[in-house]
Amino acid sequence: MKFNVLTLFPELIENVFLNSITGRAADKGIIELNTVNIRDYSKDKHKKVDDYIYGGGAGMLMFPQPVYDAYLSLKPKSTTRVIYLTPGGKTFTQDMAKEYAKEEELIFLCGHYEGIDERVIDKIVTDKVSIGDYVLTGGEIPCLVMMDSISRMIPGVLGNNESFVEESFYDNLLEYPQYSRPDKWMDMEVPKILLSGDHKKIEEYRLEESLRITKELRPDLYDKWAKDHPEYFEKLKKKLKKAEEKRRKEEAKRLANK
Ligand code: ADE
Repeated sequence: MKFNVLTLFPELIENVFLNSITGRAADKGIIELNTVNIRDYSKDKHKKVDDYIYGGGAGMLMFPQPVYDAYLSLKPKSTTRVIYLTPGGKTFTQDMAKEYAKEEELIFLCGHYEGIDERVIDKIVTDKVSIGDYVLTGGEIPCLVMMDSISRMIPGVLGNNESFVEESFYDNLLEYPQYSRPDKWMDMEVPKILLSGDHKKIEEYRLEESLRITKELRPDLYDKWAKDHPEYFEKLKKKLKKAEEKRRKEEAKRLANK
């Protein structure tokens, strides 16, 4: 996968992306990062890239020429997807990360100031993507978020492929809690079952924990899972209810003792 990023802040992208897991994958050549500084393509004598907005309005807008020339410098194929990061785009999801991970190459366009002149967006952009319902100061952080999650879906990027195979089995459920050493820290113990060595029981326990947490924090995802896995769900329903009652009692006891 080659990630191309059109941006006014290439160092920001490089400094974050070329570290840790994605940095290692780039060193190994599994993924590649190519940043293009839009300002380098400005034909203005002061290298200006933004101007006032026609019709009025606060702030400045990036004008088309430098953006378009920066894009052309990549000699893009007509099939390459060009992703514009904008709060007005389609909300990014794990499924989209998996889809993008299948591409050989992607181009990200990061806007700044009040955004980019619509004409160049119409000319080059294939996908408008938002990372959530809030407004950031530019597209660089959303671009990094997307590249990070897409990279994880590319075989060989994570240390062991297992990490995301497991996530797909637990599809759309939130993660179960995990513990490392020591088995007792302060007054808190690691759940006994995790020390038992009984892998079947451990798997069951983890799935139940995932379901419990998902039900509490993301009931929408819980309902989806129940619909997608009716056979599992029927089997687990009683057990989950019992576990929930037990937890509730324990919580009430804990609060009473405080
Ligand atoms: N640019 C500014 N805010 C954004 C967001 N939430 N998602 C994507 N791009 C953005």
